[in-house]
Amino acid sequence: MIPWEKLAKGKAPDGQVLELRRRGHEYLIYAGGYDLMSSEDDTSSIALSDYGCAHLKNAKRARVLVGGLGMGYTLRAALDRVSASSIVEIAELVSSVVDWNREWLGDLAGKPLEDPRTKLLLSDVRKPIRAAKNSYDAILLDVDNGPDALAHKQNDGLYGKRGIDEAYGALKPGGVFGVWSFDDDPSFTRRLEKRGFKVETHRVSASKKGRGRYHQIWTARKGR
Ligand SMILES: C[S@@+](CC[C@H](N)C(=O)[O-])C[C@H]1O[C@@H](n2cnc3c(N)ncnc32)[C@H](O)[C@@H]1O
Repeated sequence: MIPWEKLAKGKAPDGQVLELRRRGHEYLIYAGGYDLMSSEDDTSSIALSDYGCAHLKNAKRARVLVGGLGMGYTLRAALDRVSASSIVEIAELVSSVVDWNREWLGDLAGKPLEDPRTKLLLSDVRKPIRAAKNSYDAILLDVDNGPDALAHKQNDGLYGKRGIDEAYGALKPGGVFGVWSFDDDPSFTRRLEKRGFKVETHRVSASKKGRGRYHQIWTARKGR
């Protein structure tokens, strides 16, 4: 077995230490003592954009917000599903993750930060959500392990009643709030429905290697 090589270290604004590791062709982002994501487990990150941007196939000028960057798979998949005159904003909390994408990880997802339609926001994704009113066609969140399994404590607010209200307000009528999670969380589904979203859940294979694990994606559509 090839040993993991530590490539770089970074720190989130809340002090959480992140590490980039490599073993052969596989990259790993390690955060706070566990694996945040592996480059082998891109399937559900891509599915988040597949489901979350499905309604934008014929949209001339879509505006999509993705949070966070990770290894760029969700961002790349969103870019691949919107038109040439669309904009995909990518909000990333940790500047080191952006640096790692530029230095090491860019080729994994075809250098999505270099696409002219990408607008990078070095920020908590909650900031652009709060600032927007009826503006986004889709908001796609993969910033943590899910509504009830948090790596960053402050992300709790994104999945609670207030965060859901803010996402609802930021979306255009007919817009979609897509959320990735390590696992199902029926109470999150209920909160989305209570706010008035039309909710669908999708169980998606975690890895292209078919390691047998599944992740959960919500698509919550705002009424027209
Ligand atoms: C699991 S990774 C995302 C993986 C991504 N879907 C992909 O395709 O590679 C989570 C990312 O969200 C970032 N993050 C965590 N909390 C955030 C927040 N509140 N706002 C923006 N980015 C955040 C982390 O630094 C990390 O880069």
